[in-house]
Amino acid sequence: LLPLGLVQLLGGPAVGACPCQDPRLCHPVTGTGGFEVFVFDVGKETWRSYDWSKITTVAAFGKYDPELMCYAHSKGSRVVLKGDVPLKEIVDPAKRAAWVSQQVDLAKKQYMDGINIDIEQEVNETSPEYYALTELVKETTDAFHREIPGSQVTFDVAWSPACIDKRCYNYTGIADACDFLFVMSYDEQSQIWTDCIAKANAPYLQTLVGYEEYITMGIDPGKLVMGVPWYGYDYVCQNLSQ
Ligand SMILES: *[C@@H]1O[C@H](CO)[C@@H](O)[C@H](O)[C@H]1NC(C)=O
Ligand SMILES: *[C@@H]1O[C@H](CO)[C@@H](O)[C@H](O)[C@H]1NC(C)=O
Repeated sequence: LLPLGLVQLLGGPAVGACPCQDPRLCHPVTGTGGFEVFVFDVGKETWRSYDWSKITTVAAFGKYDPELMCYAHSKGSRVVLKGDVPLKEIVDPAKRAAWVSQQVDLAKKQYMDGINIDIEQEVNETSPEYYALTELVKETTDAFHREIPGSQVTFDVAWSPACIDKRCYNYTGIADACDFLFVMSYDEQSQIWTDCIAKANAPYLQTLVGYEEYITMGIDPGKLVMGVPWYGYDYVCQNLSQ
């Protein structure tokens, strides 16, 4: 009886009791062996049908599901938080530090293995937000690596670094500052300013050009994880002329 009581006492509310049947499954997953198969989970029960023999990281973009976390850990896969914040709010270093520490606390409380930063906001080159964003990634990586050993910090980028959708970021600085970039090689027709014309979601050659651009600017190809769209769009004709 005594050891049980002791365990309950030690597993007090500071971090939150481990929701897994085997408490070892609340330990962070460290090292997945070089290659990454990175999945964005958007909630519900689809994770039950994943091929867990292949997945190394699940970015949990849906509602927090402790069952998913426990199951992923039982398969040696990481589960990471989604990180997003209006950039205006993190230009101030003190506010930035507060945001970073909030994310680390949340990750600890939910037994997560890192964070995927998904800031898809417009940024002008050399604006205050431009510099703050690179710092945000650096500070997030430092804090996670320090506080959750073996954790992973990644950043989502557009299919090309050429200011796609006005996202003029310091791509080399951000790549250096995190574990790897997740390249969103999809929705490559996003800038439809004029007539909408049906085109491929991820045209083969255009996709390759994007990677060439990232590599040419000096980013280590080993830090680029390719995102693939497992979806397409229906283009419905509004005005049929023929
Ligand atoms: C970027 O600069 C342009 C021109 O100065 C300005 O109109 C726009 O609002 C700026 N965008 C952001 C996100 O700061
Ligand atoms: C990008 O970030 C790195 C690291 O902070 C910095 O050394 C470099 O000067 C930045 N590049 C530009 C163009 O701002």
